[in-house]
Amino acid sequence: MDLKKILWDFFFLLFETGSHSAGSLLRQSPQPRHTLHAGPRLSASASSKELLMKLRRNTGYSFVNCKKALETCGGDLKQAEIWLHKQAQKEGWSKAAKLQGRKTKEGLIGLLQEGNTTVLVEVNCETDFVSRNLKFQQLVQQVALGTMMYCQSLKDQLSTYSKGFLNSSELSGLPAGPDRDGSLKDQLALAIGKLGENMTLKRAAWVKVPSGFYVGSYVHGAMQSPSLHNLVLGKYGALVICETSEQKTNLEDIGRRLGQHVVGMAPLSVGSLDDEPGGEAETKMLSQPYLLDPSITLGQYVQPQGVSVVDFVRFECGEGEEAAETE
Ligand SMILES: *[C@@H]1O[C@H](CO)[C@@H](O)[C@H](O)[C@H]1NC(C)=O
Ligand SMILES: *[C@@H]1O[C@H](CO)[C@@H](O)[C@H](O)[C@H]1NC(C)=O
Ligand SMILES: *[C@@H]1O[C@H](CO)[C@@H](O)[C@H](O)[C@H]1NC(C)=O
Repeated sequence: MDLKKILWDFFFLLFETGSHSAGSLLRQSPQPRHTLHAGPRLSASASSKELLMKLRRNTGYSFVNCKKALETCGGDLKQAEIWLHKQAQKEGWSKAAKLQGRKTKEGLIGLLQEGNTTVLVEVNCETDFVSRNLKFQQLVQQVALGTMMYCQSLKDQLSTYSKGFLNSSELSGLPAGPDRDGSLKDQLALAIGKLGENMTLKRAAWVKVPSGFYVGSYVHGAMQSPSLHNLVLGKYGALVICETSEQKTNLEDIGRRLGQHVVGMAPLSVGSLDDEPGGEAETKMLSQPYLLDPSITLGQYVQPQGVSVVDFVRFECGEGEEAAETE
């Protein structure tokens, strides 16, 4: 898969530009094997797991290869590092040069909804490995909460919906939220310090709606935040702002389907119900083939529901900033 390849290349880059170069590693005299089993005895599986984690932290290579390296070198960490690097050279894992400047491409999208306010945030890190770390997820949570507090402090416009974006530097300056000191920038620095990877507070979007509007949402690859029940984390997120004249019971379901469509079909604008139906390459949302039933357009799906789509926001983790805003 593409993601795997990117991670793979990245790990190589890490290794290659790391403090110990191939030469210095290879010049070191081999250590006697099994020295790491000294000290308090752990069960065989626990200690080999620790070794594996350590080797992976040291080198950044994949679990599979680190495991193979440890097996080949009888559990000797130093030898395993050397073996990994030799393999990397031999098998040409060095396609990484073109990845420079793609430092923080992984990470998570966070979606937080409270009453009539919805926020979508993106925080980036260098590897998918770190994005699955609880401390990284807590950072995403702080960013979502900070954005929510900022948004709730804004004056409401009661007649229509409002939507806004925050860029990286604006996010950095926001207070971190109810239970943390300082700004989001301080939280970012703490997380970078703890996890040892570069990270970016990439962007945030917020939407506030008065009655008569509804914000549908969807997060792809969703997982619940560890400690905030209404925060959802994933790799893609969408908000779809709808206007509806009647109180409908299935709005949540329709909103989720609209969000799925936006994530899957990546429209660039809403368009109008009068537009001609478009094909696969269509970028106007209402004219696109409906993701869940391509025999009709999204407009044909949504119109009989008594709901009109007025706007949307789509975040894809790691995408270029220029594609972030609609229109
Ligand atoms: C972020 O937004 C602020 C306010 O709109 C602007 O002054 C600043 O230049 C932006 N920063 C970046 C890095 O785009
Ligand atoms: C971290 O990432 C940011 C944004 O991509 C970049 O501007 C900065 O130089 C990076 N810092 C380091 C230490 O690589
Ligand atoms: C959002 O809800 C709050 C509390 O229910 C209300 O005071 C506020 O006016 C609402 N905002 C908008 C934009 O309707």
